[in-house]
Amino acid sequence: MLEIQGVTVNYGAIQALSGVSLTVPSGTKTAILGANGAGKSSLLRAISGLTGGYGGKIRFDGQDLGPMSATERARLGIAHAMEGRRLFKQLTVQENLELAWSFGRRGTPLKSALDEVYGRFPILGERSRIACGLLSGGQQQMLILSCTTVRSPRLLLLDEPSLGLAPIIVTQIYEFIDEFARSSGVTVVLTEQMAMLALKASHHAVVLRRGTVALEGASAGFLERGASSELSAAYL
Ligand SMILES: Nc1ncnc2c1ncn2[C@@H]1O[C@H](COP(=O)(O)OP(=O)(O)O)[C@@H](O)[C@H]1O
Ligand SMILES: [Mg+2]
Repeated sequence: MLEIQGVTVNYGAIQALSGVSLTVPSGTKTAILGANGAGKSSLLRAISGLTGGYGGKIRFDGQDLGPMSATERARLGIAHAMEGRRLFKQLTVQENLELAWSFGRRGTPLKSALDEVYGRFPILGERSRIACGLLSGGQQQMLILSCTTVRSPRLLLLDEPSLGLAPIIVTQIYEFIDEFARSSGVTVVLTEQMAMLALKASHHAVVLRRGTVALEGASAGFLERGASSELSAAYL
């Protein structure tokens, strides 16, 4: 279980998050929604240890993450796919996967972790020796996601996995997330600006507005109520 209590993140004079609290039960998927600048990425960065510090408490399976470095959190099984497809662009597909594996829990031997990725995304296998900067946007997103799954994660943080991708690729990426979550039992926190997509892919949804929680509830409830007006009010 992930417990976030009163989390505050500042960048100098800019307050990106103020007093955000939420609980994510193990094995569930939570969508963090909100407009650009609402604080979605800052929340994921606070969890994975990339903000350099935060106020409040974040606990994962009862352990306080506060004193732990990003590397220690990665070893614990927290894997963060950052927005904007951050990869080592000059390294090959396989080198990126190997590097990602080495930072994780090493729950699976490297060879079988790679075989699993190439079985799931054959195109990555075919292009394993190619610098990943040469892949298409969709292929890079498959690689980014695979760089988290090879780490045998217990908590998966996905920052806007659909951003800038063609609809057919988005569908494929979300099917993959769903299937991986189901088969591995991993806990997922994902962010999106596109609400409908993320609601369909999650159990629970939280809307951030200017660094605070504006709205939260069961994703199915939002969908049943046809929540677009409710949501757009919270986005403003
Ligand atoms: N590294 C940074 N330095 C200064 N301000 C930042 C930095 N990262 C984010 N911000 C600011 O913090 C706020 C929240 O940003 P962010 O967490 O990226 O929101 P979102 O992911 O929802 O778009 C915004 O006002 C943004 O401009
Ligand atoms: Mg963001």
